[in-house]
Amino acid sequence: MVWNEDALNALHAAPSEALIADMARLDGDILILGAGGKMGPTLSAMASKASALAGKKRRVYAVSRFSDPHAAAFLQKEQVDMISADLNDEKQVAALPDAPNIVYMLGKKFGTSGNAGETWHTNVVLPGLITRILGERRYVVFSTGNVYPFTDPALGGCTEKDSPNPVGEYAMSTWGRERVFEYAAAHDGASVLLFRLNYAIDLRYGVLLDLAQQILAGTPIRLDVPQFNCVWQRYANEAALRSLLRTSPRVERLNVTGPEVGHTRQVAEKLAAALGKSVSFAGEEGSLAMLMNPGKCMAWFGPPDKSLDDMIRMQADWLLSGGRLLGKPTHFEETEGKF
Ligand SMILES: NC(=O)c1ccc[n+]([C@@H]2O[C@H](COP(=O)([O-])OP(=O)(O)OC[C@H]3O[C@@H](n4cnc5c(N)ncnc54)[C@H](OP(=O)(O)O)[C@@H]3O)[C@@H](O)[C@H]2O)c1
Repeated sequence: MVWNEDALNALHAAPSEALIADMARLDGDILILGAGGKMGPTLSAMASKASALAGKKRRVYAVSRFSDPHAAAFLQKEQVDMISADLNDEKQVAALPDAPNIVYMLGKKFGTSGNAGETWHTNVVLPGLITRILGERRYVVFSTGNVYPFTDPALGGCTEKDSPNPVGEYAMSTWGRERVFEYAAAHDGASVLLFRLNYAIDLRYGVLLDLAQQILAGTPIRLDVPQFNCVWQRYANEAALRSLLRTSPRVERLNVTGPEVGHTRQVAEKLAAALGKSVSFAGEEGSLAMLMNPGKCMAWFGPPDKSLDDMIRMQADWLLSGGRLLGKPTHFEETEGKF
C-alpha cells in the first residue's frame, strides 16, 4: 500500500460507532490543552467528527502554542476552534473558554537530561497553575506507563493497583503531574482520570519506527529492554475521548496500551522481513521491562482495531513509501530514565 500523510491523519482521526455514542452522551464543549503535539491534532479532529456524527452541537477547542506548523496546517482544515496560547501565562489560561471537558496533553519529555528544571516546570508546575484557575471541570490527564517500575515480564505487567516507582526525572515529573491532579480533585473540584499511555504507534514516530530505522541503518538492536507495550494511535485517541465519561472526583487511573506485548527480538525480525533487510542484535537480553496490564482498558473500551502484526506491516510500508518522519525517537530502550 502507498501511503500519504492525509490518509494517515484520516485513519488516526476516524471515530468508531462506540465513540459517536459516547459523544452523544457527553454534555458540553471540549477543551484540548497541548493539542499541537504528536497526538493532539488527530485527537481534536476525531472529537469534532464524532460530535458532528452524533448530531451534537459542540465546540472543540484545540489549545497550544502551535510551534509545529504541520499541526496548525492540519487543524485549520478541520472543524476545530484553534486557540494559540502559552499556558505558562496565567492571563492566557484565565481567558480560555468555559468548557466543562478537558483533555490535558501538555507535557515535556525530550531534552530532560541537562534541562530538568524545564521538564519539572512543564510537567508539575503548569498543572498546578492551570487547575487552580480552571477548577471544577472533567479532566482526562495524559500520563505515561513510565510511572511504573521495571518488572519481570512473567508477572504480566503493572495494573492500576500497583504503586508507581518511576525511574529518572522525566518519569518522576509525570508522577508529580498525577499528584498535582489528585490535589486538584481534593481541593479544586476537579474530576480526574489519569490516562497512563505507552507507546502510541503513529508511523511518523513510535517504537516500531525506532526499531525499523535501526534495521535500515544496519545498527544492531539492543535487547536490554526485551519487551515493550504499544498501541495504535487511533485507539489511544478514542480511549482518551471516551474517558471523559469516566473521570471521578476520587481520581480514576487507566493503563492504555495494546493487549499484545511486543518482544523486541521477534518484532525486529518481523520488521526486517517486511523491509527486506537483515537484522543483528547486540548485548544480553535484559530480564526486566516496563510493562502495563491493560485489562481494565480492554474491559471498558474493547480491543484496538489494529494488531501488532498490522502495525508492523504498516510501519514498513510507511518507511518504504517515503512517509514523513518526526525525528522524535521514543528511547523505549532506555533503562535509566534519561531522556
Ligand atoms: N505519544 C506517546 O506515545 C505518549 C506516550 C506516553 C505518554 N504520552 C504523553 O501524552 C501527552 C500527549 O502526547 P504527545 O505525544 O502528543 O505529546 P507532545 O508531542 O509532547 O505534545 C504536547 C504538546 O503540548 C504543548 N505545550 C507544551 N507546553 C505548552 C505551553 N506552555 N502552552 C501551550 N502548549 C504547550 C506543545 O505544543 P506547542 O509547542 O505547540 O505548544 C507540545 O507539542 C504528553 O504529555 C506525553 O508526554 C505520550
